[in-house]
Amino acid sequence: MRYEFDEVIDRRNDPYSFSFKWQKPDYILDELGIKGELREDAICLETADMDFRTAPEIIEDLKKLTEHGIYGYSNVPQKYYEAVCDWYKRRQGWEFSPEDITYFPGTHNAIAECVKHFTKPGEGVIVLTPCYGYHSDVDANSRVYVPVEMLNDGNEYFSIDYEALEEACRKEENTALIMCHPHNPTGRVFTHEELVKTAEICRANNVLIISDEVHSDILRAGQDFEPMMKACGSEKLIACTAVNKTFNLAGLAMTNVIICDPDLKTGTEDMYAMPTPFGIQAVISAYTRGEAWVEALNEYLDRNIDECLAYIREHLPKAKVIRPEGGYSINVDFSAYGLSDEEVVDRIYRKAGVVLNSGLFFDDKRGKQVHRACLSSPRSMCLEAFARIAKEFKE
Ligand SMILES: Cc1ncc(COP(=O)(O)O)c(C=O)c1O
Repeated sequence: MRYEFDEVIDRRNDPYSFSFKWQKPDYILDELGIKGELREDAICLETADMDFRTAPEIIEDLKKLTEHGIYGYSNVPQKYYEAVCDWYKRRQGWEFSPEDITYFPGTHNAIAECVKHFTKPGEGVIVLTPCYGYHSDVDANSRVYVPVEMLNDGNEYFSIDYEALEEACRKEENTALIMCHPHNPTGRVFTHEELVKTAEICRANNVLIISDEVHSDILRAGQDFEPMMKACGSEKLIACTAVNKTFNLAGLAMTNVIICDPDLKTGTEDMYAMPTPFGIQAVISAYTRGEAWVEALNEYLDRNIDECLAYIREHLPKAKVIRPEGGYSINVDFSAYGLSDEEVVDRIYRKAGVVLNSGLFFDDKRGKQVHRACLSSPRSMCLEAFARIAKEFKE
């Protein structure tokens, strides 16, 4: 079956879209301090969701559920848990059992709940920065966000600064690490050695690891992914997995938290929430019928990324950018153009009418000089966005 990813779907105006990314982009201007409004035809490549319909197999099953017509309180059936276990065993060689899975309405809620449950107010939660925004999961729970900067080789390839990590872990007040793997926005998929060394440092200092693996199915060609629990064992480690990114189902908020360490299981019975029937069915369909679609999606994303990188290298020669190992986003560093922060954002957001995420969102010290673009849209849209940006930066 050939899947369709080139179709441009109007998520801004479609009455059934309810798209955060397309219908609320002006908040980004406030965040960046830009006066005025976005162009009407602004292209939004910021929030990490996709502009593709989910797998037709999932849509087919959800249509049947819609027609069933009763959407009352739900029971999560055994086949749901089996579908989750089978997917990870088959695709990542990672084995756990149905009893190790706890459903959460979204990964943020899951991480926030783990932070609340396993750490105390005032304690520190370590994050390897620049990183996807976990502030709301940490600060909002009266814990302290502890950034540990990763090392940048100067060409946008980031690696873990073990010395800095160890220093942070040694402080008694820091009791957890949120490990983003694959890492957003750097695009790193950590190696076995990196995972093991990180776990050793954390465990030697009694620091709990919460491994956020929501991007683990979105991998660039030739890239393997090893789940942290598979690499390092389950002791003092919690993993968060989801269909949300993989199948563009984030609005259904179906996150599965995997806890195998018996010491962490005790007392987590109260971490209970009820999924919707739509979410339950979507997970079953995704993990039992969605594999071919994910393969096709990854191939499409590879070409999106390759073509955009080639375009940027030719038409924005001073921009620094690297091919990610995982995920569908790229980080573009505009600092070599020597423009002020205000000028960089004015050219990209207001003049070109392209909405990205600036480094401010990721605690990237370069702030408004570096911007993340999610290339999870039809290719024509991604290329048009960079054509518009290149026009504004032409020297
Ligand atoms: C690394 C990472 N974790 C979590 C989330 C949010 O996931 P959810 O929609 O399941 O809360 C995102 C969204 O962009 C993300 O990139």
